[in-house]
Amino acid sequence: MGSSFGTGFRVSTFGESHGVGVGAIVDGCPAQVEVSLEAIQAQADRRKPGQSDLTTQRMEADKVEILSGVQHGKTLGTPIGLLVKNYDQRPGDYGEVLDAPRPSHADFTYLKKYGVKAKSGGGRASARETAARVAAGALAEQYLQQLCGIEIVAWVNSVGAIGSDVDVNSVTRADVDTRAVRCPDPAAADAMEARIREVRDEGDSIGGTLMCVCRNVPAGWGEPIFDKAEALLAQAMLSIPACKAFEIGSGFAGTELRGSQHNDPFTGGATELGTSTNNSGGVQGGITNGMPIVFRVAFKPPATISRPQETVDYEGNAVTLQVTQGRHDPCVVPRAVPIVEAMAALVLADLARQV
Ligand SMILES: Cc1cc2nc3c(=O)[nH]c(=O)nc-3n(C[C@H](O)[C@H](O)[C@H](O)COP(=O)(O)O)c2cc1C
Repeated sequence: MGSSFGTGFRVSTFGESHGVGVGAIVDGCPAQVEVSLEAIQAQADRRKPGQSDLTTQRMEADKVEILSGVQHGKTLGTPIGLLVKNYDQRPGDYGEVLDAPRPSHADFTYLKKYGVKAKSGGGRASARETAARVAAGALAEQYLQQLCGIEIVAWVNSVGAIGSDVDVNSVTRADVDTRAVRCPDPAAADAMEARIREVRDEGDSIGGTLMCVCRNVPAGWGEPIFDKAEALLAQAMLSIPACKAFEIGSGFAGTELRGSQHNDPFTGGATELGTSTNNSGGVQGGITNGMPIVFRVAFKPPATISRPQETVDYEGNAVTLQVTQGRHDPCVVPRAVPIVEAMAALVLADLARQV
């Protein structure tokens, strides 16, 4: 339960942080889609740990292997198996967390639900699971590109209270990747990178937000009522570990406007209407309107910090928890960029299969 996403284009993931590996089964990808393993690997590389001094120093090659469903570079229409093996697992690093649940991590809740927990680390709750989603999402993206030229770009919009100014219409992945923090606004990126190093050196962590734009999505995709396109996007984004909020279009800021300021006037001819503004974020009534889909997601400061924390152990005894050995991200947003893109691609691929 809970490890599958989508209906027409369905992905199921498996694997734990410190086990043999993680992977995905993709069911429902049409036949004859050209598959570039290099493009899948490129997205996996943007997610993998140890990319820069801003991320965890766990070293993983995160090499994606295609096990089934692809022949001579094209999908067969049968289930596609994707595998990412773990090499740098160090279960011993988590000695301290065996006795006390980490505050704001998933140790306590997993134990409550299953009565047992993975021998170390976050198990399924670890961001390691997202390596599988990124591989599946990169595949979904190739299907969407070939279907109608869909383009998905996410970037870091803020770290702590440091915001940025980025043109949502023109930003590219190459722009985003010019900086380790993955914010294409150079002045903001300088400040964000300095802030992440500062909290890291203090044994602490910090949160941030991402923006994402999906371009060339045709009008008319999505189901009304419970499966509205924005509802599926919200579910997809909030399923990412540490994601705490989702907003589409004007989001919370729209609540401060009047309808006369907020409405998106229609423009264009009878065959192809557009809108002159995009406060709706590309979706109206749960159905895409042909404008770019624009949304923002928020990530909390990661829970595992090396500063001592006053808490209690599993028996309720007061303890000072200090995680000194594990390797952790001081801020998840730079690595969350390809994960958000992958989840957006999985939602759109699922919508595409339902049109
Ligand atoms: C890319 C990425 C990296 C993460 N790295 C860490 C980490 O190093 N340490 C940590 O405690 N949490 C990390 N997290 C978040 C935890 O996996 C998550 O907070 C935990 O599973 C509890 O789930 P919740 O925050 O969604 O409630 C990471 C999340 C993402 C998306």
